[in-house]
Amino acid sequence: MILQIKVGGLEIKKMTGVKNLKNLWMPFSANKAFKANPRLMNKSEGLFYKKVDGTPVLDGTSGLWCCNAGHNHPKIVKAIHRQAEKLDYAPFFQMGHPMGFKAAKKLLDFIPSNDFQYVFFTNSGSESVDTALKIALGYQQHRGKRGKKILVGRERAYHGVGFGGISVGGLPLNKRHFSLLQNVDHIISTHNLEKNAFSRGLPSWGKNLADDLLRIIEKYGADQIAAFITEPLAGSTGVLIPPKGYLERIREICTEHDILLIFDEVITGFGRLGTPFAVQYFDVTPDIIVCAKGLTSGTVPMGAVIIKKEIYDAYQKEDPKTIDFFHGYTYSAHPLASAALIATLEVYSDEGLFNNVSELSSYWEEALHSLKGIDHVIDIRNLGLVGGIEMSSENGKVGKRGYDVFEKMFHDENILIRVTGDIIALSPPLIADKKHIDRIIDSLRRIIPLC
Ligand SMILES: Cc1ncc(COP(=O)(O)O)c(C=O)c1O
Repeated sequence: MILQIKVGGLEIKKMTGVKNLKNLWMPFSANKAFKANPRLMNKSEGLFYKKVDGTPVLDGTSGLWCCNAGHNHPKIVKAIHRQAEKLDYAPFFQMGHPMGFKAAKKLLDFIPSNDFQYVFFTNSGSESVDTALKIALGYQQHRGKRGKKILVGRERAYHGVGFGGISVGGLPLNKRHFSLLQNVDHIISTHNLEKNAFSRGLPSWGKNLADDLLRIIEKYGADQIAAFITEPLAGSTGVLIPPKGYLERIREICTEHDILLIFDEVITGFGRLGTPFAVQYFDVTPDIIVCAKGLTSGTVPMGAVIIKKEIYDAYQKEDPKTIDFFHGYTYSAHPLASAALIATLEVYSDEGLFNNVSELSSYWEEALHSLKGIDHVIDIRNLGLVGGIEMSSENGKVGKRGYDVFEKMFHDENILIRVTGDIIALSPPLIADKKHIDRIIDSLRRIIPLC
């Protein structure tokens, strides 16, 4: 259903559920185009949203990679509701409430290594990234490595929208117009269609790209570099899958040169690859883990930074009454978010949702790669329950084809997908089954050649 904004107020209300769409400046959106042809949903359950007119929409992206347990899971909803009735808010600066501590312990149970013993709560992935970068810089100072002030990221990385995150991130449009952090550099991206197009799972070419970190080390000296941050698998920038052996090599280099390794697991955390974190999937352990999204299955905003004991210990002062880290958010470990976290992690375990991903992933891979050969498709990538379909751009108009596919999938096929430029990113909730996969793929097979 296409709505032109010119129709009268009453008509708009009937079709969108609100009187006008003017006052909200929507994030990362083409505001004008949206308001002329809105896509609004006002209910959700399991794998489906409902449009305002009641039409179900299959969620092919877990919202924004976050509703891993499916929508409105009754156990999570109940836990939030109960907590809201009991304690709405308590400060966490020099104070606290039991749920925050329980939530930290519950989260650490998902990490196999006993080295990780501390959790710092935030409200989002962006805040978690900026917190992790600060923790890394402070750690180097506290242990006397005063020269270690440089942060290294990777081209085509997405680490949220804080000033730290955009600086270490590798997306020029997200940085344009803003002052960035000093002392930041980037290694090259792993994305290479010429070598790796249509790879299934981890591409076999490209492990040596990790050695680009040696170039940066050579440039500044290891004694100047505090940390390297990377997404184990880059989701938001178009599903960029690390080559075999790449993360292992990155780990080796960081260890050898005494550089902290930060994994940004905002997308890969909580089952997207069939394991609690990418840490377990790749068997590569960083020094700091950043997460958010699936932490509460998207129900209440929350992010977390998971920290090794030696890093936390470096912050501890002789005087126990001195504040050890001058950083925090009013809503760090918010009671509702803490309750949602505990219930969500229980749902993941009790319902074996990560196993579902492992069991489905080969069907998912086959289904995705069955799109090879259709018009415009120049690459297909997959890992766990993540899929990327890269399309050629239409006459140099980068993003037009992606946008058209996205719109048609929503309006004509009632399926929510996500696009980055001309790359389609898929990441359905972990409760998906074969029939949902078939429906997404069949629709894409119809729609892509039309765009
Ligand atoms: C890898 C990664 N880091 C950070 C973020 C930012 O998270 P948020 O939007 O919650 O701030 C995202 C969001 O997609 C992400 O994919």
